[in-house]
Amino acid sequence: MIQKIAVLTSGGDAPGMNAAIRAVVRTAIFHGIEVMGVRYGYQGLIDDDIVPMESRDVANIIQMGGTMLKTARSKDFMTEEGRSKAAANLKKHGVDGLVVIGGDGSFRGACALYAEHQIPIIGIPGTIDKDISGTDYTIGFDTAVNTAIEAIDKIRDTAAAHDRLFIIEVMGRDAGYIALNSGIATGAESVLVPERITNVERVAAMIDYDQKRRKNVHIIVVAEGDDFGAEPLTHVLQHKFPAMEIRHTVLGHIQRGGSPTYYDRVQASRLGYHAVLALKDGMVQQMAGIVNNHIAFAPLDTVVKKHQPIDDDLLDMVKVLSS
Ligand code: F6P
Repeated sequence: MIQKIAVLTSGGDAPGMNAAIRAVVRTAIFHGIEVMGVRYGYQGLIDDDIVPMESRDVANIIQMGGTMLKTARSKDFMTEEGRSKAAANLKKHGVDGLVVIGGDGSFRGACALYAEHQIPIIGIPGTIDKDISGTDYTIGFDTAVNTAIEAIDKIRDTAAAHDRLFIIEVMGRDAGYIALNSGIATGAESVLVPERITNVERVAAMIDYDQKRRKNVHIIVVAEGDDFGAEPLTHVLQHKFPAMEIRHTVLGHIQRGGSPTYYDRVQASRLGYHAVLALKDGMVQQMAGIVNNHIAFAPLDTVVKKHQPIDDDLLDMVKVLSS
Protein backbone atom coordinates (compact mmCIF):
# COMPACT_ATOMS: atom_id res chain seq x y z
CA MET A 1 0.00 0.00 0.00
CA ILE A 2 1.48 3.34 -1.16
CA GLN A 3 1.73 5.89 1.65
CA LYS A 4 3.98 8.59 0.29
CA ILE A 5 4.78 9.65 -3.26
CA ALA A 6 7.05 12.22 -4.85
CA VAL A 7 6.53 14.22 -8.04
CA LEU A 8 9.08 15.90 -10.29
CA THR A 9 9.31 17.63 -13.66
CA SER A 10 12.33 16.89 -15.80
CA GLY A 11 13.83 17.98 -19.15
CA GLY A 12 12.40 20.90 -21.11
CA ASP A 13 9.45 22.57 -19.40
CA ALA A 14 6.09 22.42 -21.15
CA PRO A 15 2.94 24.51 -20.56
CA GLY A 16 0.51 22.38 -18.59
CA MET A 17 3.11 20.80 -16.33
CA ASN A 18 1.75 22.87 -13.45
CA ALA A 19 -1.74 21.52 -14.05
CA ALA A 20 -0.34 17.99 -13.82
CA ILE A 21 1.58 18.74 -10.61
CA ARG A 22 -1.56 20.24 -9.08
CA ALA A 23 -3.57 17.14 -10.02
CA VAL A 24 -0.93 14.77 -8.61
CA VAL A 25 -0.73 16.64 -5.29
CA ARG A 26 -4.46 17.00 -4.80
CA THR A 27 -5.36 13.47 -5.90
CA ALA A 28 -2.79 12.00 -3.57
CA ILE A 29 -3.95 14.08 -0.61
CA PHE A 30 -7.59 13.21 -1.39
CA HIS A 31 -6.65 9.52 -1.09
CA GLY A 32 -4.68 9.98 2.13
CA ILE A 33 -1.28 9.70 0.44
CA GLU A 34 1.48 12.12 1.45
CA VAL A 35 3.22 14.01 -1.38
CA MET A 36 6.74 15.40 -1.71
CA GLY A 37 7.77 17.81 -4.46
CA VAL A 38 11.21 17.35 -5.97
CA ARG A 39 12.77 20.58 -7.25
CA TYR A 40 14.96 20.67 -10.38
CA GLY A 41 13.99 17.22 -11.64
CA TYR A 42 16.37 14.30 -11.15
CA GLN A 43 19.10 16.69 -10.00
CA GLY A 44 16.89 17.57 -7.03
CA LEU A 45 16.55 13.88 -6.19
CA ILE A 46 20.34 13.60 -6.06
CA ASP A 47 20.78 16.87 -4.13
CA ASP A 48 17.93 16.02 -1.75
CA ASP A 49 15.97 19.11 -2.83
CA ILE A 50 12.73 17.44 -1.78
CA VAL A 51 9.94 19.25 0.07
CA PRO A 52 6.57 18.19 1.46
CA MET A 53 3.59 19.52 -0.48
CA GLU A 54 0.15 20.51 0.67
CA SER A 55 -2.99 21.26 -1.28
CA ARG A 56 -2.48 25.04 -0.88
CA ASP A 57 1.03 24.81 -2.38
CA VAL A 58 -0.50 24.15 -5.78
CA ALA A 59 -3.16 26.88 -5.65
CA ASN A 60 -3.20 29.39 -8.52
CA ILE A 61 -0.78 27.51 -10.76
CA ILE A 62 -3.08 25.77 -13.26
CA GLN A 63 -2.96 28.82 -15.56
CA MET A 64 0.81 29.24 -15.45
CA GLY A 65 3.44 28.12 -17.95
CA GLY A 66 6.77 26.73 -16.80
CA THR A 67 6.87 24.43 -13.80
CA MET A 68 6.58 25.48 -10.16
CA LEU A 69 8.87 22.57 -9.25
CA LYS A 70 11.53 23.85 -11.68
CA THR A 71 13.29 21.49 -14.03
CA ALA A 72 16.74 20.48 -15.21
CA ARG A 73 18.52 18.11 -17.55
CA SER A 74 20.65 16.24 -15.01
CA LYS A 75 23.95 14.79 -16.19
CA ASP A 76 24.62 13.25 -12.76
CA PHE A 77 21.47 11.16 -13.04
CA MET A 78 22.87 9.51 -16.16
CA THR A 79 25.41 7.73 -13.92
CA GLU A 80 24.68 4.73 -11.71
CA GLU A 81 26.20 6.60 -8.79
CA GLY A 82 23.80 9.52 -9.28
CA ARG A 83 20.81 7.20 -9.45
CA SER A 84 21.94 5.41 -6.26
CA LYS A 85 22.06 8.74 -4.42
CA ALA A 86 18.61 9.60 -5.78
CA ALA A 87 17.18 6.26 -4.65
CA ALA A 88 18.78 6.63 -1.20
CA ASN A 89 17.19 10.07 -0.78
CA LEU A 90 13.78 8.74 -1.78
CA LYS A 91 14.18 5.92 0.73
CA LYS A 92 15.28 8.37 3.44
CA HIS A 93 12.04 10.31 2.96
CA GLY A 94 9.97 7.13 2.97
CA VAL A 95 8.80 7.69 -0.61
CA ASP A 96 7.34 4.54 -2.13
CA GLY A 97 6.20 5.85 -5.51
CA LEU A 98 7.38 8.48 -7.97
CA VAL A 99 5.59 10.48 -10.67
CA VAL A 100 7.94 11.73 -13.40
CA ILE A 101 6.58 14.41 -15.72
CA GLY A 102 8.89 14.77 -18.72
CA GLY A 103 9.92 13.65 -22.17
CA ASP A 104 11.67 10.56 -23.48
CA GLY A 105 15.05 11.42 -21.90
CA SER A 106 13.30 11.64 -18.51
CA PHE A 107 11.59 8.30 -19.14
CA ARG A 108 14.92 6.66 -19.97
CA GLY A 109 16.18 7.87 -16.58
CA ALA A 110 13.02 6.52 -14.94
CA CYS A 111 13.56 3.10 -16.54
CA ALA A 112 17.12 2.96 -15.21
CA LEU A 113 16.01 4.00 -11.72
CA TYR A 114 13.34 1.32 -11.71
CA ALA A 115 15.68 -1.37 -13.06
CA GLU A 116 18.34 -0.63 -10.45
CA HIS A 117 16.25 0.27 -7.40
CA GLN A 118 12.72 -1.05 -8.08
CA ILE A 119 11.01 2.22 -7.15
CA PRO A 120 7.49 2.23 -8.61
CA ILE A 121 7.32 5.00 -11.21
CA ILE A 122 4.52 6.40 -13.34
CA GLY A 123 5.58 8.67 -16.19
CA ILE A 124 3.46 11.51 -17.56
CA PRO A 125 4.41 12.61 -21.09
CA GLY A 126 5.39 16.27 -20.83
CA THR A 127 7.05 17.73 -23.90
CA ILE A 128 6.10 20.27 -26.53
CA ASP A 129 7.72 18.00 -29.15
CA LYS A 130 5.06 15.23 -28.93
CA ASP A 131 7.79 12.71 -29.74
CA ILE A 132 6.64 9.89 -27.45
CA SER A 133 4.88 6.77 -28.62
CA GLY A 134 2.00 5.09 -26.80
CA THR A 135 0.06 8.34 -26.41
CA ASP A 136 -1.78 10.73 -28.73
CA TYR A 137 -1.09 13.55 -26.32
CA THR A 138 1.90 15.11 -24.58
CA ILE A 139 1.64 18.05 -22.20
CA GLY A 140 2.45 21.39 -23.84
CA PHE A 141 2.21 20.44 -27.50
CA ASP A 142 -1.16 22.10 -27.97
CA THR A 143 -0.03 25.35 -26.36
CA ALA A 144 3.26 25.34 -28.29
CA VAL A 145 1.48 24.88 -31.61
CA ASN A 146 -0.95 27.68 -30.77
CA THR A 147 1.95 29.95 -29.84
CA ALA A 148 3.68 29.14 -33.13
CA ILE A 149 0.44 29.82 -35.03
CA GLU A 150 0.04 33.22 -33.42
CA ALA A 151 3.60 34.15 -34.37
CA ILE A 152 3.37 32.81 -37.93
CA ASP A 153 0.07 34.64 -38.53
CA LYS A 154 1.82 37.87 -37.57
CA ILE A 155 4.73 37.09 -39.86
CA ARG A 156 2.28 36.44 -42.71
CA ASP A 157 0.91 39.98 -42.29
CA THR A 158 4.29 41.55 -42.82
CA ALA A 159 5.21 39.01 -45.52
CA ALA A 160 2.07 40.02 -47.42
CA ALA A 161 2.79 43.72 -46.99
CA HIS A 162 6.24 43.36 -48.58
CA ASP A 163 5.67 40.40 -50.93
CA ARG A 164 8.36 38.46 -49.10
CA LEU A 165 9.24 34.84 -48.62
CA PHE A 166 9.64 33.79 -45.01
CA ILE A 167 11.41 30.71 -43.76
CA ILE A 168 10.26 30.07 -40.21
CA GLU A 169 12.02 27.60 -37.97
CA VAL A 170 9.98 25.98 -35.22
CA MET A 171 11.02 23.68 -32.37
CA GLY A 172 10.46 19.92 -32.05
CA ARG A 173 13.97 18.52 -31.66
CA ASP A 174 14.04 15.57 -34.12
CA ALA A 175 10.26 15.45 -34.59
CA GLY A 176 8.14 17.43 -37.05
CA TYR A 177 4.78 17.61 -35.29
CA ILE A 178 4.98 21.28 -34.31
CA ALA A 179 6.05 22.18 -37.86
CA LEU A 180 3.38 20.07 -39.51
CA ASN A 181 0.52 21.26 -37.35
CA SER A 182 1.47 24.94 -37.19
CA GLY A 183 2.16 24.84 -40.95
CA ILE A 184 -1.26 23.46 -41.78
CA ALA A 185 -3.00 25.85 -39.41
CA THR A 186 -1.30 28.91 -40.91
CA GLY A 187 -1.69 27.88 -44.55
CA ALA A 188 2.05 27.47 -45.05
CA GLU A 189 3.11 26.92 -48.66
CA SER A 190 5.65 24.27 -47.59
CA VAL A 191 6.37 22.34 -44.41
CA LEU A 192 9.72 20.62 -43.97
CA VAL A 193 10.05 17.94 -41.31
CA PRO A 194 12.86 15.64 -40.14
CA GLU A 195 10.77 12.58 -40.93
CA ARG A 196 11.13 13.30 -44.68
CA ILE A 197 14.28 14.08 -46.68
CA THR A 198 14.10 17.68 -47.84
CA ASN A 199 14.16 18.13 -51.60
CA VAL A 200 15.36 21.71 -52.15
CA GLU A 201 14.81 21.51 -55.89
CA ARG A 202 11.17 20.72 -55.30
CA VAL A 203 10.80 23.64 -52.88
CA ALA A 204 12.46 25.94 -55.43
CA ALA A 205 10.22 24.64 -58.24
CA MET A 206 7.17 25.48 -56.17
CA ILE A 207 8.38 29.01 -55.51
CA ASP A 208 9.13 29.43 -59.20
CA TYR A 209 5.66 28.22 -60.13
CA ASP A 210 4.07 30.53 -57.54
CA GLN A 211 6.00 33.53 -58.83
CA LYS A 212 4.82 32.86 -62.36
CA ARG A 213 1.21 32.88 -61.20
CA ARG A 214 1.80 36.04 -59.13
CA LYS A 215 1.54 34.34 -55.75
CA ASN A 216 4.08 36.48 -54.00
CA VAL A 217 3.71 35.55 -50.36
CA HIS A 218 5.38 32.35 -49.39
CA ILE A 219 5.70 30.85 -45.90
CA ILE A 220 7.92 27.84 -45.41
CA VAL A 221 7.74 26.26 -41.96
CA VAL A 222 10.84 24.23 -41.15
CA ALA A 223 11.25 21.94 -38.16
CA GLU A 224 14.52 22.58 -36.32
CA GLY A 225 15.48 18.92 -36.87
CA ASP A 226 15.01 19.04 -40.65
CA ASP A 227 17.95 17.43 -42.45
CA PHE A 228 18.60 20.46 -44.68
CA GLY A 229 17.89 23.14 -42.10
CA ALA A 230 16.20 26.54 -42.21
CA GLU A 231 19.35 28.65 -42.41
CA PRO A 232 21.05 26.77 -45.28
CA LEU A 233 17.70 26.75 -47.08
CA THR A 234 17.50 30.53 -46.76
CA HIS A 235 20.95 30.91 -48.38
CA VAL A 236 20.24 28.44 -51.18
CA LEU A 237 16.89 30.04 -52.05
CA GLN A 238 18.28 33.56 -51.90
CA HIS A 239 20.97 32.44 -54.34
CA LYS A 240 18.40 30.88 -56.67
CA PHE A 241 16.00 33.84 -56.46
CA PRO A 242 18.22 36.93 -56.11
CA ALA A 243 15.35 39.32 -56.83
CA MET A 244 13.23 37.96 -54.01
CA GLU A 245 13.29 39.33 -50.49
CA ILE A 246 13.77 36.33 -48.25
CA ARG A 247 13.80 36.43 -44.46
CA HIS A 248 14.60 33.75 -41.90
CA THR A 249 12.95 33.75 -38.46
CA VAL A 250 13.61 31.36 -35.59
CA LEU A 251 10.65 31.25 -33.21
CA GLY A 252 12.73 29.67 -30.43
CA HIS A 253 11.80 29.40 -26.78
CA ILE A 254 8.61 31.45 -26.94
CA GLN A 255 7.11 28.11 -28.01
CA ARG A 256 7.89 26.65 -24.59
CA GLY A 257 6.32 29.38 -22.47
CA GLY A 258 2.96 30.99 -21.90
CA SER A 259 -0.31 30.14 -20.26
CA PRO A 260 -1.47 26.64 -21.24
CA THR A 261 -4.50 26.23 -23.50
CA TYR A 262 -7.72 24.77 -22.09
CA TYR A 263 -6.76 21.48 -23.73
CA ASP A 264 -3.39 21.27 -22.04
CA ARG A 265 -4.88 22.19 -18.68
CA VAL A 266 -7.59 19.55 -18.89
CA GLN A 267 -5.50 16.71 -20.32
CA ALA A 268 -2.55 17.37 -18.00
CA SER A 269 -4.98 17.31 -15.06
CA ARG A 270 -6.39 13.97 -16.26
CA LEU A 271 -2.91 12.48 -16.51
CA GLY A 272 -1.86 13.71 -13.07
CA TYR A 273 -5.03 12.33 -11.53
CA HIS A 274 -4.64 8.91 -13.20
CA ALA A 275 -0.92 8.69 -12.47
CA VAL A 276 -1.66 8.75 -8.74
CA LEU A 277 -4.51 6.23 -9.08
CA ALA A 278 -2.11 3.97 -10.99
CA LEU A 279 0.50 4.06 -8.21
CA LYS A 280 -2.27 3.43 -5.70
CA ASP A 281 -3.35 0.40 -7.75
CA GLY A 282 0.17 -1.04 -7.67
CA MET A 283 1.43 -0.14 -11.16
CA VAL A 284 5.20 0.15 -11.17
CA GLN A 285 6.76 1.27 -14.45
CA GLN A 286 4.12 2.66 -16.77
CA MET A 287 3.39 5.82 -18.70
CA ALA A 288 -0.05 7.33 -18.33
CA GLY A 289 -1.05 8.53 -21.79
CA ILE A 290 -4.15 9.35 -23.77
CA VAL A 291 -5.23 7.23 -26.74
CA ASN A 292 -8.48 7.97 -28.58
CA ASN A 293 -9.36 10.30 -25.70
CA HIS A 294 -9.12 7.48 -23.15
CA ILE A 295 -6.47 7.10 -20.48
CA ALA A 296 -4.08 4.39 -21.64
CA PHE A 297 -1.05 2.93 -19.91
CA ALA A 298 2.05 1.64 -21.68
CA PRO A 299 5.25 0.20 -20.19
CA LEU A 300 7.80 3.01 -19.84
CA ASP A 301 10.57 0.98 -21.46
CA THR A 302 8.53 0.51 -24.63
CA VAL A 303 7.52 4.14 -25.18
CA VAL A 304 11.12 5.40 -25.19
CA LYS A 305 12.07 3.05 -27.99
CA LYS A 306 10.07 4.60 -30.80
CA HIS A 307 8.48 7.86 -31.95
CA GLN A 308 4.94 8.33 -33.13
CA PRO A 309 5.04 8.06 -36.94
CA ILE A 310 4.27 11.33 -38.70
CA ASP A 311 0.96 11.44 -40.50
CA ASP A 312 1.52 10.98 -44.27
CA ASP A 313 -2.02 12.07 -44.96
CA LEU A 314 -1.41 15.46 -43.32
CA LEU A 315 1.85 15.92 -45.23
CA ASP A 316 0.07 15.15 -48.52
CA MET A 317 -2.67 17.57 -47.57
CA VAL A 318 -0.17 20.44 -47.18
CA LYS A 319 0.80 20.04 -50.84
CA VAL A 320 -2.81 20.10 -52.03
CA LEU A 321 -4.04 22.95 -49.84
CA SER A 322 -1.12 25.23 -50.64
CA SER A 323 -1.53 24.79 -54.40
O1 F6P B 1 12.25 19.22 -25.95
C1 F6P B 1 11.76 20.52 -25.93
C2 F6P B 1 12.68 21.45 -26.67
O2 F6P B 1 12.15 22.76 -26.60
C3 F6P B 1 12.99 21.07 -28.11
O3 F6P B 1 11.95 21.41 -28.99
C4 F6P B 1 14.28 21.82 -28.35
O4 F6P B 1 15.04 21.16 -29.33
C5 F6P B 1 14.96 21.73 -27.01
O5 F6P B 1 13.96 21.48 -26.05
C6 F6P B 1 15.72 22.98 -26.61
O6 F6P B 1 16.37 22.71 -25.43
P1 F6P B 1 17.02 23.82 -24.51
O7 F6P B 1 15.91 24.61 -23.90
O8 F6P B 1 17.80 23.05 -23.51
O9 F6P B 1 17.86 24.69 -25.40
